[in-house]
Amino acid sequence: MSIWNHANPQLKDLVAYEPGKPIEDVARELGLRPEDIIKLASNENPIGPSPKAVEAMKRAVEEVHLYPDGASWKLRNALAAKFGLGMGNVIIGCGSNEIIEFIGHAFLQPGDNIVTARHAFLVYKLMAKVFGADTIEVEDPGYVHDLDAMAAAITPRTKEIFIANPNNPSGTLVSQEAIDRFMDRVPDHVVVVFDEAYHEFLDNPPDTLKYVKQGRNVVVLRTFSKIQGLAGTRVGYGLGNKELIDILQRTRQPFNVNSVAQAGALAGLLDEEHQAKTKVLTDEGRDYLQAQFADMGLEFIHSYANFVLVRVGDGNAVFKALMQRGVIVRAMAAYKLPEWVRISIGTMAENRRCIELLREVLA
Ligand SMILES: Cc1ncc(COP(=O)(O)O)c(C=O)c1O
Repeated sequence: MSIWNHANPQLKDLVAYEPGKPIEDVARELGLRPEDIIKLASNENPIGPSPKAVEAMKRAVEEVHLYPDGASWKLRNALAAKFGLGMGNVIIGCGSNEIIEFIGHAFLQPGDNIVTARHAFLVYKLMAKVFGADTIEVEDPGYVHDLDAMAAAITPRTKEIFIANPNNPSGTLVSQEAIDRFMDRVPDHVVVVFDEAYHEFLDNPPDTLKYVKQGRNVVVLRTFSKIQGLAGTRVGYGLGNKELIDILQRTRQPFNVNSVAQAGALAGLLDEEHQAKTKVLTDEGRDYLQAQFADMGLEFIHSYANFVLVRVGDGNAVFKALMQRGVIVRAMAAYKLPEWVRISIGTMAENRRCIELLREVLA
């Protein structure tokens, strides 16, 4: 008898998350040299981590015979100071993805539901499934979250609402006005998660921390994987009211964030110059990619983040053709967008190479 008969039944139709293809895999599979491959598939930082973070991580490596600080005291303290909060308002995760899981552990039971947008980041739905909860997917005209419709979709069994702002993979943003109107309507039994993985790329970011400060049942998620260039270390954080963060802390493994990652994140957080440099490069790259797509007559979604979603026809075929030429982008079938690919913004040399090859592939 198969062990599946004893596994949690909701796992049977769970399709595991497929991340961007690693450079090493593509090199192995296609016989290419890793140094000839450009990865624009996971919204990483093309200039790498802050040199200060690298230095701090090298120093921390000398101490890896010791367990990390399970409470991530220094990092939480620095984040609390940066946002005018207390340490009790901050939780650190092995990536912000882990905090999405904490929230599931804390609030979801079979038969509950979460509300999210039709084209929102996939992990919310996957995590809901792991806990046996349903996902109410709300239509998002123009690929923008419709917060009025999301508020209207809440049921007595709704436990969590996820708002990715900017959203991945669409790159779209919801306004402060829409958020405020939504927060006026949302009942207290629902935890509202503002997933702000791309927050630092915004020129005029909406203020959601005010809801944390007001003690509302809100978790603001941010990450060191994007503008900080520390995706490989896996560090993200959640900001919320003390009671809510205390509940999430109870679901966390004692040493969920390793000591090298904590050291890198702390040094990276303080390196504002590296973040500013990344933002300038991202703005330039986004303008370039979007202008090129317009020139090629391709439909694209105006992005607020470090990637652009573009309609190329057969997304999977274009993904494969680009990969054979050494550029890894992201096919979007898993997001029910089979005609689109998502291209992360790279260095200008990488962006130009990607466009050159895209023109060749589409010709
Ligand atoms: C909207 C969104 N949230 C969360 C994450 C997860 O980031 P992390 O690396 O912190 O787990 C991503 C990563 O792509 C994302 O796009």
